[in-house]
Amino acid sequence: MNPRNATLSIDGKPIELPTLDGSLGPAVVDTRTLGSHGCYTYDPGFLSTASCSSGITYIDGEQGLLYYRGYPIEQLAEKSDCLEVAYLLWHGELPDAAQKRAFDQLVTHHTMLHDQMLSLFKGFRRDAHPMAVMVSIIGAMAAFYPESSDVTDAQQRGISMFRLLAKVPTVAAWSYKYNQGMPFTYPQNRLGYAENFLYMLHATPCEDYVPNPTLARALDRIFILHADHEQNASTSTVRMAGSSYANPFACIAAGTACLWGPLHGGANESALAMLEEIGDISRIGEFVNRAKDKTSGFRLMGFGHRVYKNMDPRAAIMRQTCHEVLDELGLHDDPLFKIALKLEKIALEDDYFIEKRLYPNVDFYSGIVLRALGIPTSMFTAIFALARTAGWIAQWNEMIETPGHKIARPRQLYTGPQRREFVGIGER
Ligand code: SDX
Repeated sequence: MNPRNATLSIDGKPIELPTLDGSLGPAVVDTRTLGSHGCYTYDPGFLSTASCSSGITYIDGEQGLLYYRGYPIEQLAEKSDCLEVAYLLWHGELPDAAQKRAFDQLVTHHTMLHDQMLSLFKGFRRDAHPMAVMVSIIGAMAAFYPESSDVTDAQQRGISMFRLLAKVPTVAAWSYKYNQGMPFTYPQNRLGYAENFLYMLHATPCEDYVPNPTLARALDRIFILHADHEQNASTSTVRMAGSSYANPFACIAAGTACLWGPLHGGANESALAMLEEIGDISRIGEFVNRAKDKTSGFRLMGFGHRVYKNMDPRAAIMRQTCHEVLDELGLHDDPLFKIALKLEKIALEDDYFIEKRLYPNVDFYSGIVLRALGIPTSMFTAIFALARTAGWIAQWNEMIETPGHKIARPRQLYTGPQRREFVGIGER
């Protein structure tokens, strides 16, 4: 017997289960054969369950580490750009100069939407939340690219990957323009990925708009920080949808829908709203106490994480980006930033947060940066979805390419009624 095997005893009968070691992080117990013994593992919320093997992103929650294909997020945020990171996530290696030029060129020349998609936007009420529009338009892309439905065709997968990476910023920007009753602005091939998004968001037909390079760089860094995060809820949704061989546009639309939740990608919008509700440093204690009171149902938005039991490394980089953007804009006295810094300090010194190992996550500061970049609160989660599209695609493609593919089909613990006979309505 392999001493590394796990032994489970059920009704006194020992069952050996092999353990599998990854290249980094905890080993896993391979429970795939457990079903043949007539029982299953039970883990709603996947607190202790690895749903797949992946070589894309590594997180160490205890030490607060985040690597994309082995590269620490701090180095990528400082030295790379979001399209180079997308290349890295997709291909596993950083591109050389020629590969980078070709990749950027392909993305640049796929940013426009099919012209008939404009009428899809016009079917929404003007006050539709941008995420509702994004979920719909991204899913509708499948109708314009029917050839994308054969996910076993690597060439078609490749084309769909570029179409999604290139077009989602246009969908996000147009979702906002439509919400504002403004005309759509078309992407400009002379601009970089983040610059182009700022341009499509803020330019109007009446005057030119030149994106501020410091602000564009800050947005590019936000795209890098949000690009991937191993098997979070929305990425798991993309994998679940993709496991049925649904087309990539449907899978990314499903991930976008899941990310919208306030416990997930919607937290950046909620965190900023919370800081605005706090309004003054003197009220921070009141909100911290509410978060500690179980009966309140209130949580400090932007705090806590399923994996990070230390500072989310992205939050630290986002805090630094906050300083840079607010200084660039002469807003270093921004009251919300002061409240955020004070709230972080108070919470990190409070026994409740220390015991539960609750630290600021990526969403705590991102809202302040996005607001300073002139991005409306309603667009915060849309920006998260735009950035995460690179990672969702990488994870989806990795799953399709992994040999021995299986459709995802969890089991359950049944707690319903025993068998019983139908009773006619006259006898009920
Ligand atoms: C993202 O998974 C990812 O990687 C996600 C993400 C990504 O990049 O994809 O990192 C992006 O989603 C970041 C998280 C954004 N969400 C928020 O900021 C919302 C507020 N935080 C939470 O609701 C919560 O912390 C979660 C959802 C993030 C994590 O939830 P868990 O792991 O299921 O933990 P839990 O809800 O069981 O909380 C553990 C305890 C609970 O108390 P007890 O029941 O044990 O007494 O901590 C408490 C919770 O009540 N708690 C909080 C809290 N978060 C957890 N108490 C107050 N304020 C909070 N923010």
